[in-house]
Amino acid sequence: MPILTYNGQQYPLHTEKTLLENLESQAVSVEFHCREGHCGACRSKLISGKVTYSQFPMAYLRGDEVLLCCSKSEENITIDAP
Ligand code: FES
Repeated sequence: MPILTYNGQQYPLHTEKTLLENLESQAVSVEFHCREGHCGACRSKLISGKVTYSQFPMAYLRGDEVLLCCSKSEENITIDAP
């Protein structure tokens, strides 16, 4: 199973879940609001790895940022809170 590293802590990555759902299932406290890619509240910094979006996120993102609520990953991924 791939690994999700968030703020230096490692968690198993369930590839069928969003990154936000993965962190919630591990009881990690994460900022979010809309859960639909609009508000940007879940914006986080992508350190390494790749994400895919089920639909193109509406919130503005810089090149090294991801939206946790609507992205998934198939591989080891490292993310830091903003
Ligand atoms: S919670 Fe609103 S964009 Fe992710």
